[in-house]
Amino acid sequence: MAAAAASRFLRLAPRRLPSPKRSSPLAALSLPQLAPLSTTPGRRRFCAAAQASAPATAAAGVAGEAVGEFRKRLRVADVKGGEDEGAACVGKELAVRGWVRTCRAQRTVTFVEVNDGSCLSNMQCVLTPDTEGYDQIDSITTGASVLVEGVVASSQGGKQKVELKVSKITVIGKSDPTSFPIQKKRASREFLRTVAHLRPRTNTFGAVARVRNALAYATHKFFQDNGFVWVSSPIITASDCEGAGEQFYVTTLISNSGEGGCLVNDIPATKDGRVDWSQDFFCKPAFLTVSGQLNGETYASALSDIYTFGPTFRAENSNTARHLAEFWMIEPELAFADLNDDMACATAYLQYVVKYILENCKEDMDFFNTWVDKGIIDRLNDVVEKNFIHLSYSDAVELLLGSKKNFEFPVKWGLDLQSEHERYITEVAFGGRPVIIRDYPKEIKAFYMRQNDDGKTVAAMDLLVPRVGELIGGSQREERLDHLEARLDEQNLNKDSYWWYLDLRRYGSVPHAGFGLGFERLVQFVTGIDNIRDVIPFPRVPGSAEF
Ligand code: 4AD
Ligand code: MG
Repeated sequence: MAAAAASRFLRLAPRRLPSPKRSSPLAALSLPQLAPLSTTPGRRRFCAAAQASAPATAAAGVAGEAVGEFRKRLRVADVKGGEDEGAACVGKELAVRGWVRTCRAQRTVTFVEVNDGSCLSNMQCVLTPDTEGYDQIDSITTGASVLVEGVVASSQGGKQKVELKVSKITVIGKSDPTSFPIQKKRASREFLRTVAHLRPRTNTFGAVARVRNALAYATHKFFQDNGFVWVSSPIITASDCEGAGEQFYVTTLISNSGEGGCLVNDIPATKDGRVDWSQDFFCKPAFLTVSGQLNGETYASALSDIYTFGPTFRAENSNTARHLAEFWMIEPELAFADLNDDMACATAYLQYVVKYILENCKEDMDFFNTWVDKGIIDRLNDVVEKNFIHLSYSDAVELLLGSKKNFEFPVKWGLDLQSEHERYITEVAFGGRPVIIRDYPKEIKAFYMRQNDDGKTVAAMDLLVPRVGELIGGSQREERLDHLEARLDEQNLNKDSYWWYLDLRRYGSVPHAGFGLGFERLVQFVTGIDNIRDVIPFPRVPGSAEF
């Protein structure tokens, strides 16, 4: 079991998290916040005390005014998210700002469902003809933005504990109901991709955005609590970390100023007809990074444990439900660590963030469990509670050959495992448990991975999960200068361009290891959303960079 090897992480194991259901929101947010609110549409409330403070006097004698104090505004989640689902707020005045989901007019009352994005739940707002602003009822259509003020009351309907008896409604921004693309009936995710600027206003995409945010928060929390330092690795780079040549060029040689675009003949060329990179912005070819690892290693070689968390780019022409051209990666790097430490860190990290989501995103996870992927909560609980499996690549090949299953791609020692193989291992052979495969043939892995003593394999690991397949790829790094130089030669990589990376092996080299986790694949895994294009706000894939 991977985790057993590194009690380091288990000892520092996640502290008990605060209870997911907040206690009464009113306890945290003192009651005066529920006093009648400023009615200026669209304006945040500012602290009166700050506004009243004496104006500052500038040297020129011009009296400016002090900026008001920022104060959190009460949102629907603050009212309805507690254990009592808002019962403690009954009788209090409240202003809700949000977007109309639906408007149902009955004979004497009109129900307007308003969502402010703070949670899945809408605030049911009850209007009567006496409500101030009722004359604007024709503008209260799906998609319109509104300010609704009133008093919280117990709700008769079974769907919610409380609703808002509205004294005043103000339409902030109208929404033409004949053209607003997101109507009440369920729209397909394929269609919603074509309106990615409006899809966060649906239940599914709102929930994905909140869970994605919580995963990012939990990621920083895990690493920070374990003493890692967050490092910003560069986005523009001159080296190809993975050596797979899947990089996007960053260049100013192609000018976008001329009418109709740049002429090919205007691109500077050398005498033998190649692009003359010496005339480019960086005086050499530069790319969007495929990984922050190499730069991360430099900081791990000084600060011991670091992590990066940023966008990465791959120009691979993979039109699959698991590949993006632009995705976010989390890359921890541990100094004085080997592959076992690396596997233990990956295990502890994954279990921590999954537990965090289960405990802190209950409403959204219940939604996914009901509407997107039935049973996902139970499966994620297993991930948190059960040990991960690990086996060598050689054993994985044996297992696949022994399965007698007809795979589309061949299984043979030395060939890379395909998605169908990875999914068989984790979904079928190990019944849904995350599986780490280690010690891959060196020929199919990157130059920086540490060679094992058998001379054939490297200390690499891939963590596979059901449905998604490879979620994490990592390795122990080659810390021996002569071995690393030999690997660069074998892979025909230019040693000179890695001079600074080799320097780490010249000056105080230490055993070190790390991994990369594709953040969108993590969001897929946790939400059950099957296409990666639906877990990032604006997906970039071959043939599409809309929005
Ligand atoms: O396995 P990969 O290529 O590993 C690296 O980049 C190493 N430098 C990481 C390290 O050791 N620091 O990528 C890591 C992870 C994959 O396991 C996968 O989850 C994700 O990044 N990934 C992608 N996610 C979405 N779209 C793509 N095109 C991806 N390519 C990789
Ligand atoms: Mg990989």
